[in-house]
Amino acid sequence: MPLIKMKDILSWAEENNCAVGAFSVGNMEMVIGAVKAAEEMNTPIILQIAEKRMKHSPLHLMAPMMVSAAKSAKVPVAVHLDHGLTIGCIKTALEYGFTSVMLDGSLLPFEENIELTKQVCAEADKYGATVEAELGVVGGNEGDTAVHKIQCTDPGKALEFCEKTGVDCLAVAIGNAHGNYPVLPELRFDVLEDIYQKVKTPLVLHGGTGITDEMFRKAISLGVRKINIATASFDALANKTKEYTATADKPDYFTLSPAMADAVYENVKNHIKIFLNK
Ligand code: 13P
Repeated sequence: MPLIKMKDILSWAEENNCAVGAFSVGNMEMVIGAVKAAEEMNTPIILQIAEKRMKHSPLHLMAPMMVSAAKSAKVPVAVHLDHGLTIGCIKTALEYGFTSVMLDGSLLPFEENIELTKQVCAEADKYGATVEAELGVVGGNEGDTAVHKIQCTDPGKALEFCEKTGVDCLAVAIGNAHGNYPVLPELRFDVLEDIYQKVKTPLVLHGGTGITDEMFRKAISLGVRKINIATASFDALANKTKEYTATADKPDYFTLSPAMADAVYENVKNHIKIFLNK
């Protein structure tokens, strides 16, 4: 199966009335676990890495591995730059063969977000790559300790934004946040429904960790076609490592590595089942 454009996976999700999981990866074990889960579920998947994560997982090492894993997978895989913050990083990801990029201009004034997103669309176009943008402010922060105050996406502005930029998918803020939720979030499905009625562009839900199955299903019924999962996979790997070192008679890398991949595989598989409405 080829490395494919994210746009094609989004169309597949639309046709099948489901969502595709976009799973963040930070090392080889995470890539192996995520691809194994997708292959076993016989479903497309998105492998992604955020710009801020690159201090731990450098792009020049991660990108070739992610692209190669996609090319050799038995299911369609898109490779995505999550939360691109600089044009430089976005260009580099495209040069490495990422089939989609996100510009996170959510903290910029509306007009500046539009202008920068248009610039990214023009760059991505040179590679036939897909573009995701964000409007409104998702809580928490991907790969940082700063916590952003949630600001729900304005449905009218979402329409204007999509029309002016021509983005392929739009990340919305409906009370969702990155990282582990301190309490179960109350997602604003009324806002999501309003956006869905106004905007034809596929919608993206960030901050998937800790959202209930029922909430995922509701979000999918209201046009969410891509769901991001990061913290749950990173936690699964870290918790498995803790358990492994506490119980193994003689810890060694060669049994630890598959245990890490397995922890990520389980988490990804469980999410895929929900996203497929199975
Ligand atoms: P979580 O870390 O909450 O799963 O969020 C993932 C995400 O939205 C990545 O962009």
